[in-house]
Amino acid sequence: MLIKTLNDDDILEGFDCGIEALNIFITKNAMNYQKAFACKTYLLKSNERTCGFYSISATVIEQSQVDIRWPKHPLPAILLGRLAVDLNYQKQGFGAILFADACKKVIDAANIIGCVGLITDAKDQKAILFYSKLGMKPFKTKSNTLFLKTKEIMSNIN
Ligand SMILES: CC(C)(COP(=O)(O)OP(=O)(O)OC[C@H]1O[C@@H](n2cnc3c(N)ncnc32)[C@H](O)[C@@H]1OP(=O)(O)O)[C@@H](O)C(=O)NCCC(=O)NCCS
Repeated sequence: MLIKTLNDDDILEGFDCGIEALNIFITKNAMNYQKAFACKTYLLKSNERTCGFYSISATVIEQSQVDIRWPKHPLPAILLGRLAVDLNYQKQGFGAILFADACKKVIDAANIIGCVGLITDAKDQKAILFYSKLGMKPFKTKSNTLFLKTKEIMSNIN
């Protein structure tokens, strides 16, 4: 198993996480997004097979939505735009491995340009449960938007 940046020669055909929009994204759109610097995609691979992926990009969040004491300016964060595991590999801990790798990228970003945490928009209740188990907390007024502070990520790793 390894996690690597998406490249033109990665084999993605047949990837099926059970959600068509995510299947279309990874098989048809992710490389175009990456070439436009709109987001960066990382693949979890076993031999040549793509078992899962996640995509991240820069974003800003409203200070009022999170438990961070700071003047009322938008705060820099990393958006976990998409994360999925192929049906053949689900429920084996791979989603958590991808999430942990995204958290490492948050620490890298925090050390290079500054970012206060990781944010994601959960598609449904199952996704909310998945991200909650991994430590993310809902926005104050938007329960399907979840957030994890950089400081918490750092203390979880240490
Ligand atoms: C959500 C998804 C990424 C989980 O991947 P996975 O590899 O099966 O998850 P893991 O095996 O790493 O599970 C990690 C934890 O989340 C929990 N979890 C996983 N799927 C869950 C679900 N549907 N509902 C509630 N909890 C869930 C697991 O029980 C596990 O917790 P535990 O360690 O306490 O047992 C996968 O089901 C998927 O790709 N779904 C379709 C796409 C999607 O919904 N993406 C997320 C929103 S964009």
